[in-house]
Amino acid sequence: MKITVENPEDGADIEALLDLAFGTERGGKTVYRLREGVDPVAELGGVIREDGVLKGSLRFWPIVLGDDRAPALLLGPVAVAPEDRGKGYARALIWNGLGIAAKIGYRIVLLVGDEPYYAQFGFKRHLAMGLDLPGPVDPARFLGLELVHGALAGIRGMVHKASPGEALPFAAATMRQRGE
Ligand SMILES: CC(C)(COP(=O)(O)OP(=O)(O)OC[C@H]1O[C@@H](n2cnc3c(N)ncnc32)[C@H](O)[C@@H]1OP(=O)(O)O)[C@@H](O)C(=O)NCCC(=O)NCCS
Repeated sequence: MKITVENPEDGADIEALLDLAFGTERGGKTVYRLREGVDPVAELGGVIREDGVLKGSLRFWPIVLGDDRAPALLLGPVAVAPEDRGKGYARALIWNGLGIAAKIGYRIVLLVGDEPYYAQFGFKRHLAMGLDLPGPVDPARFLGLELVHGALAGIRGMVHKASPGEALPFAAATMRQRGE
């Protein structure tokens, strides 16, 4: 199993996989308020293909937190083809994505998902407790992860979608400027 960085040609297959995994009405969920009109973080889009067929996808969106607009990431959506679930594909995509995120300087990741699954990566409910999303979610499913210990300490308030380029940490912005 090999993870590659998503490229524009993957887009249609990813949409089809997400329709299958979440249904075509998924855009109504609160997390989509944070994705509307914003591109996912290009460096962090991961895909798994086997014999050309898309088997798994993970994207991260740039967000900013509170009035100080602290840069962070929203993890998801993550989806794996139904016939390939339980093989560790999502786990591999998530570890891979979190590793790159930390390397390019992100400090905080949030998501809305099942704590029993995401706890293995270190996501915790209490880390997101001071934050609000722009719509209803089950509070038990709103989770945070600190890629740098203490990164969420004292961060409170509303989670906003990022303006273009706003939530890029310094290392990622530099890499983009250099075309790496
Ligand atoms: C959730 C999903 C991405 C997991 O993909 P996957 O490649 O099968 O995941 P992994 O192989 O890394 O992990 C599978 C393990 O996690 C468990 N697991 C999967 N989803 C879980 C959940 N929501 N809560 C708790 N455990 C879960 C499985 O039971 C399995 O356990 P096992 O290893 O003891 O058998 C996949 O099931 C999927 O695409 N589901 C539909 C879309 C979805 O719900 N995405 C996540 C939204 S937050």
